Amino acid sequence: MMKKYKIAVIPGDGTGPEVVNEGIKVLNVVAANCGFGLNFSHYNLGGEHYNATGELLPDHQLESLARSDAIYLGAIGHPEVRPGILEKGILLKLRFRFDQYINLRPVKLYEGVDTPLKDKGPEHIDFVIVRENTEGLYTGAGGCFKRDTPDEVAIQESINTRKGVERCIRYAFDYCRKRNKAKKLTLCGKTNVLTYAFDLWQRTFNEVANDYPDIITDYAHVDAICMWMVKNPEWFDVIVTDNMFGDIISDLAAMIQGGMGIAAGANINPGGISMFEPIGGSAPKYTGQQKINPLAGILAAGVMLEILGESKAASYIDAGVAKVLREDLIDLAAGKMGYSTAEVGDLVVEYIQENH
Ligand code: IPM
Ligand code: MN
Repeated sequence: MMKKYKIAVIPGDGTGPEVVNEGIKVLNVVAANCGFGLNFSHYNLGGEHYNATGELLPDHQLESLARSDAIYLGAIGHPEVRPGILEKGILLKLRFRFDQYINLRPVKLYEGVDTPLKDKGPEHIDFVIVRENTEGLYTGAGGCFKRDTPDEVAIQESINTRKGVERCIRYAFDYCRKRNKAKKLTLCGKTNVLTYAFDLWQRTFNEVANDYPDIITDYAHVDAICMWMVKNPEWFDVIVTDNMFGDIISDLAAMIQGGMGIAAGANINPGGISMFEPIGGSAPKYTGQQKINPLAGILAAGVMLEILGESKAASYIDAGVAKVLREDLIDLAAGKMGYSTAEVGDLVVEYIQENH
């Protein structure tokens, strides 16, 4: 019997829906070509929905999402909703509820894409960031005291558990082995200042490393990683780090690979339901204008298939995107695609069909 995957789609706000449309278009084509089925159900969640109904992510929606094989997300973010509400109420809630403890960010400079780094090309920029995705500063631990008085105190604590740190580090070692490139894993931390949290990270890293004698291990402080990512991005193969540092270095990395239009991300629970998204925001001012590059969303769909075990289909998507970047979107650096959002999706489809 043909394998069929249930994909929950959260198009979200702003330009999220038009990007997600292109991802679905491409997914349907590779699924047909590779002989598996995809069943999409749409969920109306995000700032628009919140403003209209006051609802963020109700339990019945969560229960329904829990019956899917994967979640495909466009963007969550609305200019009229106070910062933190949608992030905590939807995005982070999904990450925590489904225990998506890995945030995976492939960083690859495709041929034909400009990087702001002088004298660097595709041969220098090809690494992956494995970010812990359910702990650290993101748990919401802490509080405030005497708010709005001169004596105000605000505490925001970083929670690091042995279990959480170890499963993330193990995932990174496994990933590095499977990726089979330089086979080098760099721990990114701040052991010189955060002497409790990153002591736990460092010890766990060293211990787990014993199980992976084939992987070269390395350590760098997060501030130094920021310098080296700009100066010597070719030093990196896989980087593993905590939630907050991972958030920050992922955006730096997105810029050196050509910007938000190309950066895809995945929130992974290796034994559960994972969620895939372009990492750019909802870009509200471009809503409905077909100006946003959908390739990040299409690449995220590719990562989804890879994680679902459909590697061949994933590689078709990657090759299709690579060809569009190499041959068609040559003015990206000037902020010009030369095509509409839908036309870029059509080009990817065309190249996938040619390849098939
Ligand atoms: C990301 C985003 C989120 C994060 C925000 C929107 C809460 O920046 O996925 O990297 O900080 O994790
Ligand atoms: Mn981020």
